[in-house]
Amino acid sequence: VTNAPTVPILASAADDPLLRSAMQRAIDLGRRGWGRVAPNPLVGAVVVNERLVVGDGWHAEFGGDHAEVVALRKAGVRARGATLVVTLEPCAHQGKTPPCVDAILAAGIARVIVAIRDPDRAAQGGADVLRSAGLVVETGVMADAAAALIAPFLFAREQPTRPFLALKLATSIDARIADAGGRSQWISGPQAQNWAHWLRAGFDAVAIGAETARRDDPRLTVRGGIVPRRPPVRVVFDRRAALSPETKLVRTAGDTPTWVIASEEAPATNVKALETRGVRVFRPRSLEQGLVLLREAGVESLLCEGGGALGVGLLADGLVDRLYWLQAPVWLGAGGVPAFPGAADAALDQAPRWIPVERRPLGPDTLLVLDRRLCLPGS
Ligand SMILES: NC(=O)c1ccc[n+]([C@@H]2O[C@H](COP(=O)([O-])OP(=O)(O)OC[C@H]3O[C@@H](n4cnc5c(N)ncnc54)[C@H](OP(=O)(O)O)[C@@H]3O)[C@@H](O)[C@H]2O)c1
Repeated sequence: VTNAPTVPILASAADDPLLRSAMQRAIDLGRRGWGRVAPNPLVGAVVVNERLVVGDGWHAEFGGDHAEVVALRKAGVRARGATLVVTLEPCAHQGKTPPCVDAILAAGIARVIVAIRDPDRAAQGGADVLRSAGLVVETGVMADAAAALIAPFLFAREQPTRPFLALKLATSIDARIADAGGRSQWISGPQAQNWAHWLRAGFDAVAIGAETARRDDPRLTVRGGIVPRRPPVRVVFDRRAALSPETKLVRTAGDTPTWVIASEEAPATNVKALETRGVRVFRPRSLEQGLVLLREAGVESLLCEGGGALGVGLLADGLVDRLYWLQAPVWLGAGGVPAFPGAADAALDQAPRWIPVERRPLGPDTLLVLDRRLCLPGS
């Protein structure tokens, strides 16, 4: 129960540059939980009083304090009569921590600006609770940007039969993923490589095609500054289950889970050879069914790191939800390995346009993040 002061009807927060910049700050803060909070969503919050930011926070650790609680604690008494700006609707249920709506009411917040409603049945309803207590609540402010931040979380609630799938490719200016000799290390520079490790940390699983496993022999682990709460499972799409026991992936299968998506036609001897080395082998009928099996095994988000043939197969079947495209300022020529070999033609006026959700330089390279569509729960 609250003693929150009554506030006058205000213009929409969406038209207020200060509140929009507070929401952008909340989104940026939310991202700091990357790799640490799944299966919870990334959430950030900012408290604004008298047009000054008096507190901010983010959900930093699974099972830990929610963003609102951290921001309110920082704001202390300055939260009284203030505006709380938060990327996701505050929860109204007792989970691993008490309901955020209780903390908001106790702090005396007068107005709450929310980007997106919580699609989670157990947690949603906070906006209504706050309204009933007399607070001014506005939802849908910068919803697209906040939805892009937690796209895998939203996707898992909307379409729980397969994982959210992101395809990451580093290409030359002329869309080659390797030179004519098959070398791809390294097309992009050190900043992009560091970022790629950060990116892996936020996915449940990281996948490659059989040819990339054979040529590059990668470890597919997360290295560098970020330590994921759970290391991503490593997945190889290899219909014949022909992955060599000598690869780093197979040799370290006992340390980091390593799975192969084979097919019903995979020779039993190949399957056995991998299984005896600790590799889990799936034998789906199709690429899509392979993804369904991954989802059933607990993978909500999958980062596919190429190569081109696997990427095109996934794109052709409409299974790619996000594209992380790193473009390096280098030219590799027609003999290089194409990023999208044999991609089907699309007429210009009918080709679906992807939605740019982020563009930024990474050293000399350029990162472009494109979503096929936005998952937006009703606001
Ligand atoms: N620049 C980058 O970002 C980047 C990233 C990755 C790789 N690379 C480079 O790319 C090259 C390898 O790429 P790639 O395009 O030749 O091969 P790839 O995509 O890594 O692997 C292709 C193989 O994946 C298997 N696969 C399983 N399911 C598939 C499906 N539904 N559709 C298509 N393939 C499927 C197939 O082998 P089976 O038929 O035996 O199953 C196929 O031959 C290497 O030179 C590597 O260094 C670059």
